[in-house]
Parts: sequence; C-alpha cells; structure tokens
Amino acid sequence: MLMIERIADLRRQVSLWRQAGERIALVPTMGNLHAGHLQLVDAARGPADRVVVSIFVNPMQFSDAGGGDFEHYPRTFESDRKKLVENGVDLLFFPAQEEMYPAGFKDVTQVQVPGISDILCGEFRPRHFVGVATVVAKFFNMVQPDVAVFGEKDYQQLLVIRRFTGELCFPVEIIGVATVREADGLAMSSRNQYLSVEERRRAAALYRVLQAASERLASGETDIAAIESAAIACLKDAGFRPEYFTVRRAYDLQPAAMDDAELVILAAAWLGEARLIDNLPLRRQCTVPV
Ligand code: PAJ
Repeated sequence: MLMIERIADLRRQVSLWRQAGERIALVPTMGNLHAGHLQLVDAARGPADRVVVSIFVNPMQFSDAGGGDFEHYPRTFESDRKKLVENGVDLLFFPAQEEMYPAGFKDVTQVQVPGISDILCGEFRPRHFVGVATVVAKFFNMVQPDVAVFGEKDYQQLLVIRRFTGELCFPVEIIGVATVREADGLAMSSRNQYLSVEERRRAAALYRVLQAASERLASGETDIAAIESAAIACLKDAGFRPEYFTVRRAYDLQPAAMDDAELVILAAAWLGEARLIDNLPLRRQCTVPV
C-alpha cells in the first residue's frame, strides 16, 4: 500500500493510474477504522481498479463548542494502516491539517448545501455539514475519483454529498453502503467507545426502537406523530437523551406525507458521553389510492 501525505504526490500517483486507463475509487474516513469502514473499502473494489482511502480528522466539521470533541476524537493510525493493508487498499492518503487547510479553515471557501444541512443533525450541529461538504469536495478535486463510497449510517451526510456532487457537477458516482452493525444491532461507530460497559449494554435499544417504529409503519399505521412520540418515550425509558426521532421522506428528509413510499426513520440520542445516530430506510405500500 502506498502511503502519501502530500497533495502533489497524490496527484502524481493518481495520474499514472489514469494514464494506464484504470478506474479509481475513493473512501474518505476520519480513521479509527472498524468493520463498517472496511465494508466501504470492499464496495469500492467492484467498480474500480484502484482504491484510495483517506484518513483525516477534519476540524472544520467539529463545533468549536464541542467540548473538545475534535481533540478527543480517537486517533489509531497504526492499527488503521494495518487494516487497510490487509484489505488490499492501494493508497492511503493522510494529509496533515496544514496540507488540507494552509490558510486555516475559518475564512476560506466553503461548500454550503442549503436546506438539508440545516435540519436534524444540522440543527444540533450548526456548521457540521459545511465542514463535511467542503472537505469531501476538496478530496474529490485532489483524487478525482470515478466513484466515491459512503455509509448509509450517516444518512443525512450521504444526501448532502449527493446534492453538492450533482449541483457542482463533480464527475463522481456516489455509492451508498448499508449500515454495518454489531451482533446486537448497534450501528458500528468510532463514538461507541465513549460508552461505559453498562451503557454499551443498553445502546442497542436505539436500533430496537427504530425497528419497532418501522414495523408499525410497515403494518399500515399512519399516525406518524404517535409513532415518533412513542419512540422518544421508549428511548428516555432506556436512559437515552434523544435529540430527535423522526420519520422522513428518504430522498430529501422532509416530513413524510401519507403518499410517500420511500421513507427513512432517523434518530440521534445521547447515551452518557456518546452521541449516537442511526436510521432505518423503509419502503411502504402507498396509503393513498392513485
Ligand atoms: P467517518 O465517521 O470516519 O466515516 C467514514 C465513512 O464510513 C462514512 O461514509 C460513514 O458513513 C461510514 N461508516 C461509518 N460507520 C459505518 C457503519 N457502521 N456502517 C457503514 N458505514 C459506516 O463520515 C466521516 O468519517 C466524515 O464525515 C467524512 C465523510 C470522512 C468527512 O470528513
């Protein structure tokens, strides 16, 4: 596996592959890799000849008032590197902050995706998606991949990325990969390690509550507000501090209407020191006769 820190070296290597007619896939990450990330690497291999993974803990997407979330974000470079070698990755790009943001990350050009960035997680983490969209756009310009792979675990992030990719005409195909879960259903996440043993035991309730809501919708129940408030109550009973639990249209995350068939149920909730997010996409029978 090639290990590259500089943008110029990255461009040189990628252009050699391009000249040889090879297709390139990019998997952006912030490191601390788990089986969810490795599933993205796996999905990247099919449509491409070369897989590039980036590891960069992006300060622009963390809030200043995040209680040191950026500083405390787990950094496990050596074990990440080994996992990527074992999984046949061709190139690991791991730029320093000065390489990514030579002029800092405050008063610089940013990619803003209006509407979708301001709801749900965006409401609780106001500048988060600007930071995500900006850094991913930069990676797209550095690597110029044919395809880029992201997890459905961060469903809103995936939609933000699809939006700016289309609207700014990046010639990159975006692939979404289903959420990888622990045996008890908890979505894998770098933030799960902030859970105590007792909290970890309780954490799978988030997935169970999503499933219960999904079953109610699938069985034809239409009172979405009742489903949402029952779910919030269940989460509180299980010791969570919910930020939101909501049923939305899958394609733009606007509130679901009676005749929307493609839905996603999304939740964010704190358990102890960990902010957990999860979601469950579902397709239901159209409830309004056409
Ligand atoms: P990070 O949290 O490291 O996640 C990197 C990628 O892995 C994202 O596309 C995320 O959705 C995916 N992922 C994480 N957990 C997953 C799981 N359990 N199953 C499937 N996929 C999973 O998301 C980011 O980093 C950053 O915001 C980034 C896009 C790299 C921009 O900085």
